[in-house]
Amino acid sequence: MQQSKLPKKVLATCIALALMGCTEVATEKQSEPANTPIWPAIASPVALDPALEQKITEMLAEMTLEQKVAQMIQPEIRDITVDDMRRYGFGSYLNGGGAFPNNDKYATPQDWIALAEAMYQASVDDTQDGSSIPTMWGTDAVHGHNNVIGATIFPHNIGLGAANNPDLIEQIAAVTAREVMVTGIDWVFAPTVAVAQNLRWGRTYESYSENPAIVRDYAAAIVRGLQGKPGENFLSEQHVISTVKHFVGDGGTTDGIDQGNTEVDEKTLYRIHAQGYVGGLEAGAQTVMASFNSWNGEKIHGSEYLLTDVLKQKMGFDGFVVGDWNGHGQIPGCSNHDCPQAANAGLDVYMVPTGAWKPLYENLVQQVRDGVIPQSRVDDAVRRILRVKMRAGLFNKPSPAERPLAGKTELIGSSEHRSVARAAVRQSLVLLKNQNQLLPLDPGQHILVAGSGADNIGQQSGGWTISWQGTGNTNDDFPGGTSIYTGIAEQVSAAGGKAVLATDGRFEERPDVAIVVFGEEPYAEGNGDIANLDYQRGNATDLALLQQLQEQGIPVVSLFISGRPLWVNPELNASDAFVAVWLPGSEGAGIADVILRNAAGEIQYPVQGRLPFSWPATPAQADRRSLNPENPPLLPVGFGLSYGESDELATELPVQFGDASTTATLPVFDRAPQSPWLIELRSGAERSIVESSIQSLGAITTETFDDQVQEDARTMQFAGTDAAAFNFVSPFPRDLRAYAEKDGALVVTLRLESDVPDDAKLTLYCGENCGIAVPVGEHLRALTAGEWQTLAFDVACLQDLGLDMAKVSGIFGLASSEQWSVSFNDVRLEPEADNSSICL
Ligand code: BGC
Ligand code: BGC
Repeated sequence: MQQSKLPKKVLATCIALALMGCTEVATEKQSEPANTPIWPAIASPVALDPALEQKITEMLAEMTLEQKVAQMIQPEIRDITVDDMRRYGFGSYLNGGGAFPNNDKYATPQDWIALAEAMYQASVDDTQDGSSIPTMWGTDAVHGHNNVIGATIFPHNIGLGAANNPDLIEQIAAVTAREVMVTGIDWVFAPTVAVAQNLRWGRTYESYSENPAIVRDYAAAIVRGLQGKPGENFLSEQHVISTVKHFVGDGGTTDGIDQGNTEVDEKTLYRIHAQGYVGGLEAGAQTVMASFNSWNGEKIHGSEYLLTDVLKQKMGFDGFVVGDWNGHGQIPGCSNHDCPQAANAGLDVYMVPTGAWKPLYENLVQQVRDGVIPQSRVDDAVRRILRVKMRAGLFNKPSPAERPLAGKTELIGSSEHRSVARAAVRQSLVLLKNQNQLLPLDPGQHILVAGSGADNIGQQSGGWTISWQGTGNTNDDFPGGTSIYTGIAEQVSAAGGKAVLATDGRFEERPDVAIVVFGEEPYAEGNGDIANLDYQRGNATDLALLQQLQEQGIPVVSLFISGRPLWVNPELNASDAFVAVWLPGSEGAGIADVILRNAAGEIQYPVQGRLPFSWPATPAQADRRSLNPENPPLLPVGFGLSYGESDELATELPVQFGDASTTATLPVFDRAPQSPWLIELRSGAERSIVESSIQSLGAITTETFDDQVQEDARTMQFAGTDAAAFNFVSPFPRDLRAYAEKDGALVVTLRLESDVPDDAKLTLYCGENCGIAVPVGEHLRALTAGEWQTLAFDVACLQDLGLDMAKVSGIFGLASSEQWSVSFNDVRLEPEADNSSICL
């Protein structure tokens, strides 16, 4: 072979681009070569196989343009039918977080397999225009097979980072791969290798650590666990394809804003944010997901430099790049259904949920015909996709329902799998305070277990659990799982002690000690972005619970459930012992293993977790990059007490940090209701809290839709058949007097979807029989229908109308008995509004 004289790397590229020929490729590339000293060439342990490449070349020669473009399209199960799969032959498809076969949360493993089988059979059926290339199904199994009821749910990544144990992590990934394969799925969108630099980011818990070295080692371990080891059991019957995500800089955005802009130099981008790709590619990762964020203002989905020059050429990645959820649509000049820019930049697979897949497919076909996208680019993308499919044995494997693990439902949530998760929980706990060596506790005592998180598997599992946000789940949704309380109760009663559950901390018989389990409620992605790190800002109910116990002289152990370190100085002061338990998942019993001694009084398991992120000393200390000797954290990365160790936090910590939080913007709806606000529907005498994308109550229906990002806007349809209303309500009355005093305004961005009836009223509440309902038809009618427009209502005027600003319980609502409809995408209170606000 004459090519064999070329250096190995060049040979690889030539084979990869066999149809184009090497020289052509070289001349076609216009952009600057990657900054060689910064980005390394990585030797993948999965070598290019010339025979396989030859086969791909032959297949490409047989495929129509339509068939090729279909390989590049990844729709979502809610937006396609099996017949669409037959007709188009998509290269892959996904289920998003909280998307299930038949839209049924309680779909059984058999239902999952049935869908996988039907999609597969349709994909290989070429009686219509589609090809006979097997499709593949990708899913977000990011802490176990977390969309499936009954699956083992592992601690979220932040807790695994605290365990700092790559072998354990590899085992977790191998277990996850097996549970995924039981349901006939081929491909997992994990690991997330973000190195979060700002704790305000709602995805901090998906990040193993702020320390890139941990992330690099973990990335390699997870990829090995999911895919198997090259040369040994790579992509065997026990393994799935993995995705290292989100390339690159997702954890580095300014102010921790999800999908924001990462403003760092190239060296930092590599040294901090790209280390997971070094680990992942060295372990043979076959796919990489492009990130929503920008790097210095340029969206990654459109960055030819990063996707093609750096990742594919310099780092030598020969698998394919998949986009993130309509991420291509965010490139300037693109929309979800029209975006040749992404393919040209190097995106190989468009993740295109929603109905946009069809026009996107049609546009891409046309754009190749018109030469907007070079044929060579499409051939390269499809070559990469087919290469991964062949390496995964998709062409030789039996269909999903016939694969060895398919239908072995006893593996889902098996006791063997759960014991791996329980070990992970034990290793992830970080002890921050242990005054008088209170922990581990003697299980023979009378123990009160309090707090909203005590018996709440949903809360302890966090986002990406059954539903996308992790909300709306009850303990019954976790068959086989154990809450933190259940784990404690079992061991305490076995040891002859008594554990009593009382969420509100009340008791009849005085306990020897109280364990209070509290922390963040579940969230995912941008919905979890916060303004500062103050835990329960202005609403410190958990602190009140701790203090109430402390004042009675009862020793208090705090178990803090959270997706990130938060500023909890007051709660630390009010606790004798304090453990960061992160988001432990379905095996809550792992906590009892560590905090309780055995019946013989011996330590069962040491407490061994170490902080993966430093712990903040003030509510403002969110950005890792702001930490330095003059601005030290409360506790550094790597901190974690062991049992018997002296306690640095025994003294009182400062709790005053000015009143900055009372004058800040108060977001009420920003993509989703912002805690503590919830949307309440009213129809006649009935009420309900909105928990799903679409929900109806009598005469009112609400539905989310995508404005800028997914599900960031809502429509309210009033049917006109009864008195109906919606409002943003808080479970606790809020003291918002500062906004009236500081010239504040209630600012809402609305879009009228129909005419406004005469009886439309703006409503705000201040408790059960307190509130105002003011006609606003006149002001709404002044808006142009069908366009987003912002109205600002002067808060002091609302107060004058009778709203008690000291106890606001419903902050913005509309009421009417007529038929009409209106949408909103932003609701907030602003201090110091200008004088253009409306005085009702
Ligand atoms: C969907 C989820 C999906 C998420 C991705 C949401 O709109 O409901 O299924 O995972 O977007 O960002
Ligand atoms: C997330 C990804 C996820 C995808 C599919 C996106 O919104 O950023 O991490 O894999 O949705 O659900």
